[in-house]
Parts: sequence; structure tokens; C-alpha cells
Amino acid sequence: MEINKNVEDDGVIFMSIKENGNEIHGSAGSGGDDAGDVTILAIESSCDETAAAVVRNGREVLSNIISSQIALHTVYGGVVPEIASRKHVEKINGCVRAALSEAKLTLDDIDAVAVTYGPGLVGALLVGVSEAKAIAYAKKKPLIGVHHIEGHICANYIENKDLKPPFACLVVSGGHSHLVIVRDYGEYEIIGQTRDDAAGEAFDKVARAIGLGYPGGPKIDKAAKEGNSDAFTFPQAKIAGADYDFSFSGLKSSVLNYINQAKMQGQELDANDVAASFQKAVVEVLSEHAIRACKEYGMDCLAIAGGVASNTALRELLEKECAANNIKFCRPSPVLCTDNAAMIGSAAYYEFIKGKTFGLDLNAVPNLPLGDRERRYHADKNR
Ligand code: KG4
Ligand code: ZN
Repeated sequence: MEINKNVEDDGVIFMSIKENGNEIHGSAGSGGDDAGDVTILAIESSCDETAAAVVRNGREVLSNIISSQIALHTVYGGVVPEIASRKHVEKINGCVRAALSEAKLTLDDIDAVAVTYGPGLVGALLVGVSEAKAIAYAKKKPLIGVHHIEGHICANYIENKDLKPPFACLVVSGGHSHLVIVRDYGEYEIIGQTRDDAAGEAFDKVARAIGLGYPGGPKIDKAAKEGNSDAFTFPQAKIAGADYDFSFSGLKSSVLNYINQAKMQGQELDANDVAASFQKAVVEVLSEHAIRACKEYGMDCLAIAGGVASNTALRELLEKECAANNIKFCRPSPVLCTDNAAMIGSAAYYEFIKGKTFGLDLNAVPNLPLGDRERRYHADKNR
């Protein structure tokens, strides 16, 4: 995975991600599009990343462009929805243009346009949805609405070319913590979820409390490498009668209480030790649930997805536990764990080949539930 970064005048980071350097573009540029190939232009704008990608047959990424606003929101300690929406409007055309140009294709070469339509920030989602609808209308291309979390799960297909359902997937992002059995392409059975805070949310809140700032996950990940993970024992919530559910608010409160107490007693706070001990408590409970789910559901493969899946300690622990339990461990590269449009192009492909497309009345659904097919519908096929 090769990442080319450029910081723009407004602080937004423009990234072009290439699998194995330029090789992938060679295959696109050489015109190798077979009759049965499906090439999808995908758009993602659910939070603070404006992204566009071109994906062939669900697994071959011809281009992957991410315009990250993280630096703009850092000063506020979190994502400011209004700023996010405005930046998406400014950046989206440039991202789509760059994605097409890196894939050496034009809109005429695209078979369908895909877009995240939920869950996420409504104003942010609407920018991507409007862009995708405009392209679909102008170029008379089919439109595919994609669930953001299904996209995260499908990021696993990009680098694990042999991965096929069924498998178990631990989805841990800023807004979601789910344990899912992927029964088939597009068929998700949720067996566990968070009762309160999402894993990423807990990382962000604890990071803020120990003065590491936003975004918390990557900062805790880094600080934990310098700290002692056994310095403190924080609680790992178990929920009676709900074996696979998570709860992170008790853990978060326990860390915050420790910090406040230390402050009141005038004790020096070792942020690295707190980060390492907190992280250990989170990743151990995630790993324990995921491995148990694989065993009890007879799954021989575990995948991980979402921003927290890029956490070094989680990846190391799951690698070890999967090996010890004879389970294949699949994980996307860190840059494909956080928000991107390549994963949306992958998810869209499996909808498209089933004939599931959407009409131009597609709207943003900020609280779209995972695996909810009722809110989906098939578009007028004659368009
Ligand atoms: O999937 P994502 O990019 O956006 C959502 O769909 O929410 O996830 C963002 C979340 C944030 O809470 C961020 O702090 C967390 O993922 N995150 C991490 C790491 N990188 C991002 N958490 C732990 N360790 C990391 N290395
Ligand atoms: Zn996400």
C-alpha cells in the first residue's frame, strides 16, 4: 500500500492510495476491461473524509482518493458537522475528478455510481448523495446506495482476494461496535453490539481526558506504545444474558475517575500508562468476544473493520489469538480501516450484481440500521 499525501492551503490532507504502487493503474490504463467487468465509481462523505474511488469487480481498486478534514476539526476537539458539510461541498468534485483521472477512465467508462447514504452526519451524507445522483442522472448510470458499515466490512475483500462469506466480523468504528456474522454477500446477522459508547468514541473521550487531543484513537495507540499496560486495572464490562454485547461507558468513567482523583491528590499523571492500560482493557474484551463468537458460530475466519480496527494492539492480539485457535485472521491495511470510498465500491458491487439499484429519490438516512433491507428498494430498472 503506497500513500501519497499533500497538505492543501486550507489544512485538508489530500491522499491518493495505491495498492502495490502504480501496478494497479497499469492494468486499468491498458484498457483491460472485459465484457463482464463491472467498474463502479464510489463516493463517501459520511463524516470528515471526502472520498472517491474507482473499483472493478468489487476487489480491484483502480483509484482511491481521500480528502481528510481531520486537521480542521482538531482545534474543536471533534468533528463540527457544519464545517464538515461545507468542506465536502468544496472538495467532492476534485475527489471524483482525481479518482477518474488516476483510474485513467471517464464517466462514460463507469458502469454504476455508488454512494454512502447512511449512517452518518446528515449534512455530510447529503453532499455525497447529491453528487452521486447528479452523475447518475447526467450520465444515465445506475445508482447504488451503500450502508457505511457494510462498506467497512467489505474493505476486507480488497486485500484478501480469497475471502468469501460466511465469516465473523468485528466492526469497531467511531459510531459503531458490532459483532457480525456475514452469512453471504450483503447478508449480515448482528450477534452483539455496544450498549452505550462505541469503541472509537471511548478512545476519543479518554484521549481528550488525558490531554492527548483529537482524534483520540491514533493518539492513544501511539502513547500506549510508551506506556505500561499493567499499570492500572480498569474494568471490562460483561453483560449478563448478552454474551456478545459490549459496554464501554463504565470503562471510560473508571478512567475519568482515576484521572480526576489523581488531579485532586496532586499526583503526576502518566498519560502513557493510562493510555496503555485503557487500551488493553478495550482490546482484550473485543478479542475475547470475537474469538468466542467464531468458536460458537463455527466460523473459521475472523475479519475486522472500522477505524479502531487499525489499532496496533488490537491487530497484534487478534493475530495471536486467531493463530492459537486455528482461525484465519483477515484485516484491511490501516488506511482501508478508516473511512474511504474503495470499501463503498466493493460493497456496491455485490448489490449491483444482484440487481439492486436505487432511484433518484435516494436520500441520506443518518441512522440507517445495519443489515436493514426494508429501507432499501429496487429502482425502476428501465431508467
Ligand atoms: O471508521 P471511522 O474512520 O469512522 C466512523 O465510521 O466512525 O472510525 C473513526 C474512529 C475514531 O473514533 C478514531 O479515534 C478511531 O476510529 N481510530 C482508532 C485508531 N485509528 C482510528 N482507534 C484506536 N486506534 C487507532 N489506531
Ligand atoms: Zn466509518
